[in-house]
Amino acid sequence: MENEKKLIFSGIQPTGTFTLGNYIGAVRNWAPLQEEYNCIYSIVDLHAITVTQDPATLRKHSMEAYALLLACGIDPKRSIAFFQSHNPSHAELSWVLSCATQFGELSRMTQFKDKSAKHADNINAGLFTYPVLMAADILAYNADLVPIGADQKQHLELARNIAQRFNQRYGDFFTVPDGYIPKLGARVMSLQNPTKKMSKSDENPNACILILDDKDTIVRKFKRAVTDSEACVRYAEGKDGINNLITIYSSMTGKTVEEIEREFDGKGYGDFKLAVGEAVADALEPIRTEYAKLMGDKAYLKECYTEGAERARRITQRTLSKVYRKVGFVDAR
Ligand code: TYM
Repeated sequence: MENEKKLIFSGIQPTGTFTLGNYIGAVRNWAPLQEEYNCIYSIVDLHAITVTQDPATLRKHSMEAYALLLACGIDPKRSIAFFQSHNPSHAELSWVLSCATQFGELSRMTQFKDKSAKHADNINAGLFTYPVLMAADILAYNADLVPIGADQKQHLELARNIAQRFNQRYGDFFTVPDGYIPKLGARVMSLQNPTKKMSKSDENPNACILILDDKDTIVRKFKRAVTDSEACVRYAEGKDGINNLITIYSSMTGKTVEEIEREFDGKGYGDFKLAVGEAVADALEPIRTEYAKLMGDKAYLKECYTEGAERARRITQRTLSKVYRKVGFVDAR
């Protein structure tokens, strides 16, 4: 990797096909960032097992997620694209960092509260320490910037606090990372309950667009999207459903909110929903095509992720040995 450029790290869980929320809030921004930065993107499979996973399904979803990452424009030669479990440094650093993280801090994480309410039968220790592993992902590479959606902001804040605490205790070492959160689309909402974020774990399949959904499915889901009774396409408080659709349409077409309001002046929600559905389906079409091609060449995918993990390990082994030295472990060699 070229040294003078700043470094980006981000990750996504392989818990199913990426949603339109994952795409607009995060993954879509990852490819263009390759122009200006050294980028490292990971399929974070260690994070995925904090909720119960069927092993065969997790393996399948992980391969699919890797192919999707490349289909979304991540160049595995220029950037590093790998599976988190292929680099043991993440889990190792996570242990050290967990000893610099307070129980109280982790208890305040809203995602932990939400997920433990949702999976009351499996509130495992990994679910609780999940944000420490995320901090390790980022700090192991001394990343400068972390492109994420708004729901990961609190976790990033914690990573910053852990880095600062470590630096205070052991001397300046970790880069304190900044978030890179898009102005538009940082929180794409459910199509069925627009006060809730769009999530692949939503039980209602109409609530969520998957980026591999075909055009008919996408258009149908948008047609069924919950709106309001005003029948006027304008961005305003209390119009959560329409605001969400305007945001999605704007981020797909590049049109401003004012342009969109003008475009649909005097038209009904039916026309608007159809336009949003078509814009999304057309924008995602090339990804579907590329994905199908990549899934047909497993040998190529394997070559990419194997090489990605090797390059990732080379970076983090150096970080880890410096960290071990700083905390006072005896040199292994
Ligand atoms: P994950 O897998 O839940 O989501 C991946 C990315 O998608 C964003 N996102 C959204 N953005 C806008 N609207 C939505 N409805 C929406 N849903 C998801 C997320 O903010 C995220 O950026 N803990 C992370 C993965 C992770 C990570 C990391 C990220 C692990 N280690 C290190 C950055 C750096 C997660 O579960 O994301």
